[in-house]
Amino acid sequence: MESKLFTPFQLGPLTLRNRTIRSAAFESMGKDFGPTEQLKDYHVSVARGGIGMTTVAYASVNRSGISFNKQLWLRDEIVPALRDMTDAIHAEGAAAGIQIGHCGNMTHWSTAGSFPVSASNGFNLYSPTFHRRMRPAECVAFAKDFGKAVVTAHEAGFDSVEVHAGHGYLISQFLSPYTNRRRDEFGGSLQNRMRFMQMCLEEVLTEAERLGMAVVVKHNMEDGFKGGIELDESIEIAREIERLGVHGIVLSSGFVSKAPMAVMRGRIPTKTMSYYMPWSSWPQKIVVNLFGNWMIKQYDFEECFFLEKAKRFREALKLPLIYVGGLVSREGIERVLGEGFELVQMARALINDPNFVNKMREGDLSTRSGCDHRDYCIARMYSRDMQCCHNCQEPIPDKLWRELKKIK
Ligand SMILES: Cc1cc2nc3c(=O)[nH]c(=O)nc-3n(C[C@H](O)[C@H](O)[C@H](O)COP(=O)(O)O)c2cc1C
Repeated sequence: MESKLFTPFQLGPLTLRNRTIRSAAFESMGKDFGPTEQLKDYHVSVARGGIGMTTVAYASVNRSGISFNKQLWLRDEIVPALRDMTDAIHAEGAAAGIQIGHCGNMTHWSTAGSFPVSASNGFNLYSPTFHRRMRPAECVAFAKDFGKAVVTAHEAGFDSVEVHAGHGYLISQFLSPYTNRRRDEFGGSLQNRMRFMQMCLEEVLTEAERLGMAVVVKHNMEDGFKGGIELDESIEIAREIERLGVHGIVLSSGFVSKAPMAVMRGRIPTKTMSYYMPWSSWPQKIVVNLFGNWMIKQYDFEECFFLEKAKRFREALKLPLIYVGGLVSREGIERVLGEGFELVQMARALINDPNFVNKMREGDLSTRSGCDHRDYCIARMYSRDMQCCHNCQEPIPDKLWRELKKIK
């Protein structure tokens, strides 16, 4: 059968030149919650490398949703700089997408500038922070912020928005019974837990339809632990997302505050991670250094690690599905496309090599990215920019290499 990898795809109002998307992976390259030349250069390099669409990661829809200093906060002030970036991406023939979300209980007073909010009151060890339950009027206001973010993204020249509804961020905190213990119209039954997501998506879709933008949702197939969302319930949520009228669903899994590596798989180098944590969060830095291997659940990496679960969603849904998780070779990508997924997203393969898509076009089925999942890129983002250990622009200390080399 002929490969569809390099055939165009119509994602709602948007035509992509091929089936590849650079997945939203936090670049940690922002400044003053806005873009930099470095962020632009990275996305332009991916666009030049042949991608169908590149997705700028993790932009907060309002001030209270920020969890990292180098994260984007989507607002009018940064539109000209974002426009400069999207123009440069378009000039390379790729589409430009932006992930929008709110970090909820993953924020911290020091970054968000206010007391962290979530579906319920509680303490998040990961941040670490106490957080408070959102009032119903705040749920309405935040949903409107999602709609406003679409308007800002459009002014900034983006073709598509990806709503982050997974990984244990705010929408996911409402969906998951683990973090949502409310007894009002936003908690309890699945119908109630979906209400905040529905409100956000309705605002997003109204604006996107008016402006002619594509909308995709990053969704958790499962949270990855007992007491979180499991597969059958997640399929119900995906059916609701489909009914609301989005153009595609990105199928991911995992809850960063509980089991971060369930999202990405592979073994996180915890000493390296601790090394890059800032001294301003010294208790966390020390705890991760001493007990990280014990505290953070580790997973073996396997190519296409979400494929078997994602196939259940393919059977249940009709809308375009975007596969993400463990794609590093042309053979893996062809396998996924052959299972009926319309598009594929990649993060680490393109962190290692922004030119990977062009290499696949020129190569054969054995073409692989040089990423070998030592997950240095993840460990590093706590204070530095996103880079691969194999082509890092600054020297990596020997003691970190000793840990990285042990990871198979
Ligand atoms: C350094 C890094 C940062 C990430 N940041 C985000 C993020 O901001 N938003 C998100 O939805 N996923 C994020 N992810 C997850 C990826 O988008 C993707 O779902 C995951 O890495 C699996 O894809 P891969 O095997 O191609 O890397 C990140 C992954 C990495 C490696």
